[in-house]
Amino acid sequence: MKVSVLLSVAAALVSPAIAEIINGTTTPLPEDLNGSNFTYPWPVNLYRFASQNQSLEMAFMDVAPRNTSNEKTALLLHGKNFCGATWNATAKVLLGAGYRVILPDQIGFCKSSKPTNYQFSLQQLALNTRSLLQELGVGNITLIGHSMGGMLATRFSLMYPQHVTELVLVDPIGLEDWLAKGVPYLSIDDIYKNEAASNYTSIRAYQQATYYVNEWRDEYDVWVVMLNNVYHGSLGKQFAWCQARVTDMVLTQPVLYEFGLLNMRTLLVVGDKDNTAIGKQWSPPEVQARIGHYNILGKEVVKMIPKGMLVEWEDLGHSPQVQNPDRFHEALMRWLAG
Ligand SMILES: *[C@@H]1O[C@H](CO)[C@@H](O)[C@H](O)[C@H]1NC(C)=O
Ligand SMILES: *[C@@H]1O[C@H](CO)[C@@H](O)[C@H](O)[C@H]1NC(C)=O
Ligand SMILES: *[C@@H]1O[C@H](CO)[C@@H](O)[C@H](O)[C@H]1NC(C)=O
Ligand SMILES: *[C@@H]1O[C@H](CO)[C@@H](O)[C@H](O)[C@H]1NC(C)=O
Ligand SMILES: *[C@@H]1O[C@H](CO)[C@@H](O)[C@H](O)[C@H]1NC(C)=O
Ligand SMILES: *[C@@H]1O[C@H](CO)[C@@H](O)[C@H](O)[C@H]1NC(C)=O
Ligand SMILES: *[C@@H]1O[C@H](CO)[C@@H](O)[C@H](O)[C@H]1NC(C)=O
Ligand SMILES: *[C@@H]1O[C@H](CO)[C@@H](O)[C@H](O)[C@H]1NC(C)=O
Repeated sequence: MKVSVLLSVAAALVSPAIAEIINGTTTPLPEDLNGSNFTYPWPVNLYRFASQNQSLEMAFMDVAPRNTSNEKTALLLHGKNFCGATWNATAKVLLGAGYRVILPDQIGFCKSSKPTNYQFSLQQLALNTRSLLQELGVGNITLIGHSMGGMLATRFSLMYPQHVTELVLVDPIGLEDWLAKGVPYLSIDDIYKNEAASNYTSIRAYQQATYYVNEWRDEYDVWVVMLNNVYHGSLGKQFAWCQARVTDMVLTQPVLYEFGLLNMRTLLVVGDKDNTAIGKQWSPPEVQARIGHYNILGKEVVKMIPKGMLVEWEDLGHSPQVQNPDRFHEALMRWLAG
């Protein structure tokens, strides 16, 4: 019953009035694109469309495999502190297996527009992403999301189940409802102050403690620099504001209560040492103590997903694909092969 309601809602997607692809291969785009000067591994294209009465550009990479016999398309969704480019290693593995790989930067992130008067919702970001795919003529996808991208991939799969052949959630956020567990609501204005104070030192300290089990390797540095440059780039202020609204979005729009409605085969990948919990920094100690336990959350949530499978690693943190790419890719490709 509930599933058929979702299907009829999904069928209602209407293309935005204005929609065009600006091809980065044929139209050179600036290296510093919408406030990010990071060099991406493949040509960056723009999807220009109208949303919430404004014209926006969503940057994305769309990479064809050498051997196209597979005919499958993988859509990779980045996390809040990442960009499409952070998926480069995974994209190479998927390309090697014959997948076409599409890597968008969500509105408000990285090389995409940073509208300060945008109502961010997971549904809006999912709709933007689906309309990009529609513009590219892409139907069914293998959907892979990390962190906030995992929460977004869950929402996307609930809205457009007929297009998601298989779903992979990599240390997704949203495995719990932080506000329901006692995290106090913080205004967007106050979250903005924290966002605007971000610097290399604070970003690195956060990633070390949350993503990498307190270890640090030189190759992690590039992702800190990439993010820090957006905070301090030409649209830094707008970026911090968008990120404050995005934090509000993930806090107030749980997906936790809908995991039971996912009807596609789903892989949940979890590093048990991940301790990500939105709002932890501003919560009292007793609340901090009960949130962000991925070693427990993974097992709890996979039981809710009808065709769910859990792969968890005791020794890894929030970003297994960066911390131990070989192990991550082996598990991913084994599961994708069925
Ligand atoms: C951009 O143009 C190149 C060269 O013509 C083509 O191979 C590629 O598929 C195009 N990409 C998009 C997203 O339209
Ligand atoms: C984003 O970049 C594109 C390409 O340079 C540009 O046309 C657009 O105006 C930029 N958007 C913003 C909000 O700066
Ligand atoms: C939408 O934008 C147009 C052009 O900027 C403006 O004239 C119009 O009033 C806007 N609509 C709303 C509802 O704000
Ligand atoms: C392309 O991949 C398919 C399946 O993986 C394989 O059977 C085929 O030999 C490959 N073709 C080439 C030209 O490598
Ligand atoms: C991914 O990109 C980063 C940053 O450019 C680079 O350091 C790393 O070597 C790349 N990894 C792969 C597998 O290409
Ligand atoms: C896409 O998936 C649907 C099931 O959701 C299936 O009926 C359809 O045949 C698939 N299309 C292609 C081109 O594989
Ligand atoms: C970076 O931010 C932290 C926390 O906001 C602050 O204590 C520190 O002084 C800042 N460091 C630099 C070099 O600006
Ligand atoms: C990228 O942007 C940052 C922040 O504005 C700046 O410090 C850095 O020099 C820029 N790098 C390049 C290669 O332009």
